[in-house]
Amino acid sequence: MAKFINFCVFLSLLTLAPLCFSMENNGGPLYPSFYDHSCPRLQEIVWSVVANAVAKEPRMAASLLRLHFHDCFVKGCDASVLLDSSGTIVSEKRSNPNRNSARGFEVIDAIKAAVEKECPGTVSCADILTLAARDSTLLAGGPNWVVPLGRRDSIDASLSGSNNNIPAPNNTFQTILTKFKLKGLDIVDLVALSGAHTIGDSRCTSFRQRLYNQSGNGQPDNTLNQAYAAQLRTRCPQSGGDQNLFVLDFVTPAKFDNNYYKNILAFKGLLNSDQVLLTQNAEAAKLVKLYADNIEIFFQHFANSMVKMGNITPKTGSSGEIRKICRRVNH
Ligand code: HEM
Ligand SMILES: *[C@@H]1O[C@H](CO)[C@@H](O)[C@H](O)[C@H]1NC(C)=O
Ligand SMILES: *[C@@H]1O[C@H](CO)[C@@H](O)[C@H](O)[C@H]1NC(C)=O
Repeated sequence: MAKFINFCVFLSLLTLAPLCFSMENNGGPLYPSFYDHSCPRLQEIVWSVVANAVAKEPRMAASLLRLHFHDCFVKGCDASVLLDSSGTIVSEKRSNPNRNSARGFEVIDAIKAAVEKECPGTVSCADILTLAARDSTLLAGGPNWVVPLGRRDSIDASLSGSNNNIPAPNNTFQTILTKFKLKGLDIVDLVALSGAHTIGDSRCTSFRQRLYNQSGNGQPDNTLNQAYAAQLRTRCPQSGGDQNLFVLDFVTPAKFDNNYYKNILAFKGLLNSDQVLLTQNAEAAKLVKLYADNIEIFFQHFANSMVKMGNITPKTGSSGEIRKICRRVNH
C-alpha cells in the first residue's frame, strides 16, 4: 500500500491524481504489496497451511494448482469455482471438468479460516487461491514468483462457463489454443502451463478413448507408445474403472520438473491434450523440445504464464466482495 500511495503522490505531482483515484476505485491493476499493511502475515499463513496439507498428501499441490486454473478460465480469477450451490447459484463443481475431479476445497477453507482469524474481512478467496497455487508449485519443487494481489470475489458462478471455457482432454490442439486465446493467453502460455501436468493424477475416463478406440476405428491412438498403452490398459479397462487414478508424469509423479515434456517426446503423454502439443502444431512442438532440453527456460516461462493467467479479468475496486466463507456469498 505504501508503494501505491507513493505512486499516487507521484501522479499528483504530475496533476494526474484523477488517474490514481480511478485506479483505486474502479479497479486498477493488481500489485504484490496489496495486503502489506492490512494483512502483513498473509503469505506466511497461506504457506504454512499449504505446506501442512502437501506434507500430509503430496497430490494436494497438484489439486490446488489445477483449482486456480479452473477458477481463472471461468469469469476470471474470482473464486467462482469455490462456491457451492445455493439459492440462485449453480456450483461450477458440477461441471464436466470438475465433477468427481476438482479437489482441495477443504484446504482453501482451512487457509481462509486462518486468514480470517488474523485479518477479518480483508483478504479475498481469489487471492488465497492464487497464493496457494504458487506455494503448491514451489513445494513440489517448481519455480517461485511474486504474486500480484488485490482480486475480489464473485457473487455468482457459471456452470456453462466451466463446461465451455476449460479445455477438454480430447479437444484438438486448435480448439485448446482457441480457448486459451479467448482468455488472452498465447501458444507459449499454453505449452508452458500444460507443464503443470508434471504433477498430479488423471482418472481413467479422461484418456480411455486413446487406449481402445481413438478415432472410431477400434484402434488405439497411434501417437501413444504402444508398450505404455498396454500398461495403462491393465488398470483402465474398456468399461468400468472410470475413477481409477494414473499419474500424469510416470517418471517423477510428485516432482515439479520437465519430465512431462520428455515423456511427450517419447510418445508417453498421458492425455490426448498433452500429446497433441507435439503432434498437431510445429510451433508448439518446438516449445515442447525447448522445455524438455532446458528446465530453466521452462521454469521462467511457467512463472511468467502463471502471473498472466492470474491476471485474467480480476474483479477490483468495488466490484464483487470479500467473502467471509469461500463456499458462499456474504448475503
Ligand atoms: C491445456 C489444456 C488442459 C487440459 C485439456 C487439461 C486436462 C486435465 C485433465 C483431463 C486432468 C485429469 C482430471 C481427472 O481425470 O480427474 C487434469 C489434471 C490436472 N491438470 Fe490439467 N488440463 C489442461 C491445462 C492445465 C493447466 C493450465 C493447469 C495449471 C496450470 C493444469 C493443472 C492440472 C493438474 C495439476 C492436474 C492434476 C490434478 C490432481 O491431481 O488433482 N492443467 N488436467
Ligand atoms: C470427448 O469426450 C466427451 C466426453 O467423454 C465425449 O462426449 C465426446 O464425444 C468426445 N469427443 C470426441 C471428439 O471424441
Ligand atoms: C469405436 O467407435 C466407433 C464410433 O464411436 C464405434 O462405431 C465402434 O463400434 C467402436 N469400436 C469398438 C471396437 O469399440
